[in-house]
Amino acid sequence: MAKILVTGGAGYIGSHTTLLLLEAGYEVVVIDNLSNSSLESLRRVEQITDKRVTFYKVDLREENKINDIFTEHEIESVVHFAGLKAVGESTEIPLDYYEQNVYGTLSLLKVMERNNCFNIVFSSSATVYGDPASVPITEDFPISATNPYGRTKLFIEEILRDLSVSNDKWRIVLLRYFNPIGAHESGLIGEDPQGIPNNLMPFVSQVAVGKRDKLSVFGNDYDTVDGTGVRDYIHVVDLSDAHVKSVEKIKEFEGVSTFNLGTGNGYSVLQMIDAFIKETGKPVPFSIEPRRPGDIAECWADASLANQKLDWKAERGLSEMIKDTWRWQNQNPNGYDN
Ligand code: NAD
Ligand code: UD1
Repeated sequence: MAKILVTGGAGYIGSHTTLLLLEAGYEVVVIDNLSNSSLESLRRVEQITDKRVTFYKVDLREENKINDIFTEHEIESVVHFAGLKAVGESTEIPLDYYEQNVYGTLSLLKVMERNNCFNIVFSSSATVYGDPASVPITEDFPISATNPYGRTKLFIEEILRDLSVSNDKWRIVLLRYFNPIGAHESGLIGEDPQGIPNNLMPFVSQVAVGKRDKLSVFGNDYDTVDGTGVRDYIHVVDLSDAHVKSVEKIKEFEGVSTFNLGTGNGYSVLQMIDAFIKETGKPVPFSIEPRRPGDIAECWADASLANQKLDWKAERGLSEMIKDTWRWQNQNPNGYDN
């Protein structure tokens, strides 16, 4: 069976995708510098699947070391997650973001080209739609960026488009994620943010488990159903499944293919809090605070293209997303740091 290289495979989405790739019968080689993750995630993936992962602690920018890995393993396709992802931090240390995300990707692409590996699935983000003119969002909406993190995604997308023009052997899948939440149903792997979580659901579950006092709701004066921000939350296992489908179908595609990965449903912050309390029975104290700079009112996907071309659809609803988030948080109050 073909070998797949997963960059950032110890991270949140990478570990779930590695698990599904192993279950689908692929051999998986993971590279990760462990800057935002722990090897424990992959140990647990091995425990769940009873299969082995080949792991290298290496940074994307270490071109020679990555070349050695391609020499040692015949890699058919790359699923590329590795990178920095915190919007706020990216405005403070933009050079680190450009270096790790953009330069890191360039180094990976050069090694791939040198080793005749032309198949890549890339983690992009709905952030490339900026403040969309309307919802739901389709892949042909104009793209823009409002912060350095978003700009790295935009630049990498453009670099990949240029690359596909230079050589028609490239098969490139750009996956634009909406808001991944949840965890594997075993409760053994999940999202393990370092420090104070930036994203809504990790924060809500840390409040519910007693690690934080209360949630700040950023703004209740948006033009939405109840004034709070509306997003398209998608279960991380559904999201990961789209990567397996992409790997399966990538050879049928030509050049660059771009897909939104969302459910097509939007939920507000207050709806998410209500649903969380209903599913878990835990209180979630919160207060209304000013808007977070850079936030938009509402954002959800039209994911019908992924449905047609990848034969993929998000299967898991909000209740399952919340139950799985909570099982992971409750069983691992300190994440992988037990
Ligand atoms: P994560 O931080 O859990 O995973 C990223 C992994 O990459 C980590 O294990 C980290 O240690 C590793 N890494 C970072 N820089 C590296 C480098 N220079 N060399 C080698 N390894 C490196 O994040 P995630 O939530 O799993 O996100 C995965 C990808 O999906 C990222 O590219 C992110 O930008 C993108 N994405 C995430 C979300 C989200 O909400 N989680 C939304 C849209 C897009
Ligand atoms: C964030 C990122 C975006 C990334 C996306 C997917 C920012 C500014 N944007 O977007 O680049 O692509 O995640 O992972 O970080 N909220 C609160 N209180 C909180 C946290 C969030 O009220 O403590 C609200 C937000 O205002 C928003 C919603 O919850 O309305 C979702 O927020 P979040 O989980 O951070 O995701 P995004 O803002 O969609």
